[in-house]
Amino acid sequence: MSCLGMKKTREHQHFEGISDKYQSAADTWSMMYDLIQERLDQIVKGRDVLDVGNGGKFSYDTRLPRRIIAMDISPAMMKCITDPGIEKLVGDARNMNIVADASVDIIVFQLVLHHIHGASLSESIDTLDSILRSSFQKLRPGGSLVIIEGLLSKSAYRIQASLFQLTLWILGRFGVSMIFFYNLSLFKKHVKSVFRVSDDDFEVVPLRLTGRIDPLGGSFPGLIKIPARLHPLNFTLLIIKKPC
Ligand SMILES: C[S@@+](CC[C@H](N)C(=O)[O-])C[C@H]1O[C@@H](n2cnc3c(N)ncnc32)[C@H](O)[C@@H]1O
Repeated sequence: MSCLGMKKTREHQHFEGISDKYQSAADTWSMMYDLIQERLDQIVKGRDVLDVGNGGKFSYDTRLPRRIIAMDISPAMMKCITDPGIEKLVGDARNMNIVADASVDIIVFQLVLHHIHGASLSESIDTLDSILRSSFQKLRPGGSLVIIEGLLSKSAYRIQASLFQLTLWILGRFGVSMIFFYNLSLFKKHVKSVFRVSDDDFEVVPLRLTGRIDPLGGSFPGLIKIPARLHPLNFTLLIIKKPC
């Protein structure tokens, strides 16, 4: 496992702390992971995959890709990966210099980007832009960027954005790491400008969850369950192709 001399951020500490519980908490979202796998198995076959913020959770059959690099800021989150064929890389999505340019076919960000933010809203958007630029550099021509996120409606996003500093402050007071969700048009705007693609180059797959789900993402499994249709986040899989 490679390791950079990284300073521990609050997110890093948060995931180190929950790593033992994460896999069982994530199981409460098995319906979503299954829906993702239905699509991802089709595109990872025979390809070189960089899975950023992997957290030991693969939404594709790990026997299919030619190569898998699981990258995470937290080594503890990857300790459940025991397959010696999977390369583990400890690194921060905000600095992907450890990965060679034009060296992978698929980059996956599954439920990661809402954990990566800056000290302000504009810094967070700049961070998103810089991650998209690095992804563009690391992908081979014709490769695909895969983003799986819970997305907000435009109005809910505006409310969340207006409360950015307050949320950051309150969560900080409780020692909890910040989360910040995007909306589809914001993602499209930024990806389009970095990847120089049009709306037609986006594959948008809504991950339609049914039944009752844990709105807290398994943080307190089983304690609270709400009908999936009432969840404020629209879980979505985005696939964007880097032009050849
Ligand atoms: C909610 S978990 C998602 C894990 C897995 N991808 C999944 O779908 O279940 C977020 C993961 O992103 C990692 N992470 C958070 N910030 C990161 C960063 N800046 N760079 C790389 N990984 C990061 C965490 O350590 C954690 O493993």
